[in-house]
Amino acid sequence: MKLWGGRFRGETDDLVFQFNASIGFDQRFYRQDIEGSLAHVAMLAKQGILSKEDGDAITAGLKGILADLESGALSIDPTSEDIHSFVESTLIERIGEVGKRLHTGRSRNDQVALDMRLYTREQVLTTQEKLKELLHTLLKVMEENLDTYMPGFTHLQKAQPVTLAHHVGAYFEMFLRDLSRCEDIYKRMNYCPLGAGALAGTTYPLDRFYTAGLLSFDGPTRNSMDSVSDRDYLIEFLAALSTIMMHLSRFSEEIIIWNTNEYRFVEIADAYSTGSSIMPQKKNPDIAELVRGKTGRVYGALMSLLTTMKGLPLAYNKDMQEDKELSFDAMDTALSCLTLFTGMIATMRFRKDVMRKSATGGFTNATDAADYLVGKGVPFRDAHGIVGQLVLLCIDKGCALDDLSLAEFKAVCPVFDEDIYAAISLETCVEKRLTYGAPGPERMREVIAEYKKILQS
Ligand code: ARG
Repeated sequence: MKLWGGRFRGETDDLVFQFNASIGFDQRFYRQDIEGSLAHVAMLAKQGILSKEDGDAITAGLKGILADLESGALSIDPTSEDIHSFVESTLIERIGEVGKRLHTGRSRNDQVALDMRLYTREQVLTTQEKLKELLHTLLKVMEENLDTYMPGFTHLQKAQPVTLAHHVGAYFEMFLRDLSRCEDIYKRMNYCPLGAGALAGTTYPLDRFYTAGLLSFDGPTRNSMDSVSDRDYLIEFLAALSTIMMHLSRFSEEIIIWNTNEYRFVEIADAYSTGSSIMPQKKNPDIAELVRGKTGRVYGALMSLLTTMKGLPLAYNKDMQEDKELSFDAMDTALSCLTLFTGMIATMRFRKDVMRKSATGGFTNATDAADYLVGKGVPFRDAHGIVGQLVLLCIDKGCALDDLSLAEFKAVCPVFDEDIYAAISLETCVEKRLTYGAPGPERMREVIAEYKKILQS
C-alpha cells in the first residue's frame, strides 16, 4: 500500500517506483522503525492525542509485527516503497482503521532520521566492543613481548632497536584514540529527532522529551529543520570508521612485510592464511591484504556522503536516502575487518629469535655509539661524524659495530674504551631507553599498567 496518492491522477511509472524505493536496503532497520513507532504511540496516548484504547491496539499490532518479523512468520514485502510504508500498511491490514492513526504528528522525514540514528547508535556501540576486543588482544601481545627485541624502522630502514611490545603499543594508542572517537560521536549524536515532523514540528502537543527518554536518548534535538536534515553524526562515524580502517591497514601492511620470506618475523596461523592453486609452497596473508584493500571502500562511503550532502538546501531532500547503502556497507566492512584482524593477531606466532637477530644487524646501535662519545665529553655533532666513519669501515669489512676491535675504534677516535661494547649491546640500547613513552621494558611495564586501568574503566 502506498502512503500517498490522494493528489495524483495518474499511476507512478514502474521504473520510477523502483528508482525511488528504498525497501531493498532500509528493511535493515525494521526493528528500529517499530521501536520508534512504539515510543511515538505511547507518547500520543499519554498526551491524549490518541485514546488509550487506540494506543493499546496500535501498540499490540506493532509488537505482533515485530515478533512475526523476528520469527520469520512475516516477511518484508519487497514491493513496498520503504520500511515505513511496509510497517504502516501491515499494521492497517492487521488491526484495521485504528492503524491509520499511527502516523499522527509524524513524517517519514523525522521517522527515517530517527531510524537511521537508532541503527547507527547500535553500530557505534558494537564498534566500541570490537575495538575493546582488539585492544585486549594487543595488550596480551605486549605483555608477552616486553623483552622481544626488534629493529624499529624509519623509511623502512632499520633505525634503532625497540621491542615488539613497544611497536604493538603504538597501534594500541591508535585504536584507543579510535575508541574515544566513537565515545565522542555517541555523546554528540544521542539526541532524538522524533517529533520534528516533516521539517517544522507540529501543532499537536507532542512531548518530545518523553519519546526521547523512552528511546534512551539524552534529550530531543533542538531545531526541527536541522533534525530532519542532519547527517553529520553519520559523516563523523564514517570518518571514525575510515580512521580505524587506516590504522588496520597500516598494521596489515606491516604484517604482510613481516610475513615475507625475507623478514620472517611472524607466522600467520593456518586458520588465517590461504594457499595458491598452482604454487604448492604458498601460504598467503590474504586477511591482512583484504583488510588493507577494503579500506578503500570505507573511505569511499565517507567521500560519497560528504558529496551527497554538500549542496543540499534545508530541509529534507530525497538525496538523503543515499546515506544508507554505502554507510551500511562501510559499517559491515569495518566490523568484519576488526573481527578478523583481531583473530589473526591472537593466533599469530611472533618469531622472537628472528626479530632479535634482525635488530643486531643494520647498525641500529649507531646512535648509541655516538651517545657513548657524548657521555665522554665529545660534542654530539662530532660524535655523529666519528660513528659515521666507523659505519663506513664496517660496511667495507662486512661486519657490525660490535665486531670492531678496540684498536679499530681507537684508530678513528681515541676516546673509545673497553666499555664501548657494553654501551652498544642490544640489551643496553633497549633497556636504557627509559624516557616516558620509550621502549625500555621498565617504562613499558608502567605504561601497560595504565592501559589496563583505562580498559577497565
Ligand atoms: N526512504 C526515505 C529516506 O530514506 C524516507 C524518507 C522519505 N521522505 C520523503 N519525504 N519522501 O530518506
